[in-house]
Amino acid sequence: MENSLVAVLTLVLCLFASQICAQFAVTLTGNSNHRPRPPDVTLCAQLIQSAGYHCSEHKVQTKDGYLLALQRVSSRTGYIKEQRGPPVLLQHGLFLAGDVWFLDSPEQSLGFILADHDFDVWVGNVRGTRWSRGHISLSDKDKDFWDWSWQELAMYDLTDMISYINSITNTKIFVVGHSQGTIMSLAAFTQPNIEEMVEAAALLCPISYLEHITAPFVLRMVNMHLDQMILAMGIHQLNLRSDWGVNLLDSVCDGHVDCNDLLTSITGENCCFNNSRVDFYLEYEPHPSSSRNLRHLFQMIRKGTFSKYDYGFFKNLKLYGQSKPPVFDLGRIPDSLSLLMAYGGNDDLADVMDVQHTLKELRSKPELLYLENYGHIDFILGVDAKKDLYDHIIKFFRSRGKSSSF
Ligand SMILES: *[C@@H]1O[C@H](CO)[C@@H](O)[C@H](O)[C@H]1NC(C)=O
Repeated sequence: MENSLVAVLTLVLCLFASQICAQFAVTLTGNSNHRPRPPDVTLCAQLIQSAGYHCSEHKVQTKDGYLLALQRVSSRTGYIKEQRGPPVLLQHGLFLAGDVWFLDSPEQSLGFILADHDFDVWVGNVRGTRWSRGHISLSDKDKDFWDWSWQELAMYDLTDMISYINSITNTKIFVVGHSQGTIMSLAAFTQPNIEEMVEAAALLCPISYLEHITAPFVLRMVNMHLDQMILAMGIHQLNLRSDWGVNLLDSVCDGHVDCNDLLTSITGENCCFNNSRVDFYLEYEPHPSSSRNLRHLFQMIRKGTFSKYDYGFFKNLKLYGQSKPPVFDLGRIPDSLSLLMAYGGNDDLADVMDVQHTLKELRSKPELLYLENYGHIDFILGVDAKKDLYDHIIKFFRSRGKSSSF
């Protein structure tokens, strides 16, 4: 019983970054000697400047006191030009961080490609990831530091990063979100006056509803209420690199689950992932998230709603003035905020049926890009993503951009 619990628990953790996570499990079983990173190393120094791009580190303080690292990237020539192109903010998904947009070659990685096309690239890193672990009064050892879900990531982290970029550039910005980054974007875009700050957004693996996840493993975990168990166990930070996380991964690969099949059994197949680069990816991913965030995601799967966090009857009444958490009304996203939605036929997390549901509730008609053979990770790490996807994003943004210098 205990072993199967641990196995299922690990699968939960692997839910949204499963290819990486599966490989991580395999790697760590053979070699648990992972290196901690010195705290003063920045993302700019680590991955971006070394590739010859100009990069500066910015710090954004959220309304609830978190200190987020935001990087501003441009190509060497882009930096020399007087005028930069329009700003674009890249918002990563669950268990990932801003580094994920720069993990392949400059010809393959969206972050570099946008900079090479003269965009003023800004890289978001949500609270709790390795690059954004500061707070004005809390330490990341405090359990209160981890008391948030994607709702706070949308209303504080994303919204405050967007305001910050606006204040520096004086221009409406473009947003690119992947996976949980699209949940955050769609929730944030329902706020009043958002069209004064955001011109358009490209949503990769777009998620607002999670009702049609079909993977049996995921459903089983949800039905077992593993999210509640983790919280009841007093675990607030979900960190796969901690001893706790490593032990979990060790035991899951110890005869209980075939780790090589983990990916396919949860997300379906990623067509275009470069397996020989996994060791390098693992120097950066996965990043921590919070147990409460996992719980919020599981609430979405259970209830089929796109709502605020459900605290239970009484606390909902107290906090929201109603017994059920308020929904995010996609109909409030302004028509003038153009959307490109790119989704994959093999993506079992952003299910096609749930994407249709999202489309039905939006006022505008987003541009759609359906990539039949794409799984959840191909959208950021696929070897042919430039031709399949990124070229479309650039064309879409250029057709929306008002800046004539561009
Ligand atoms: C896959 O990664 C290896 C190792 O970095 C690299 O040499 C190779 O060119 C990559 N393949 C593709 C198709 O990008």
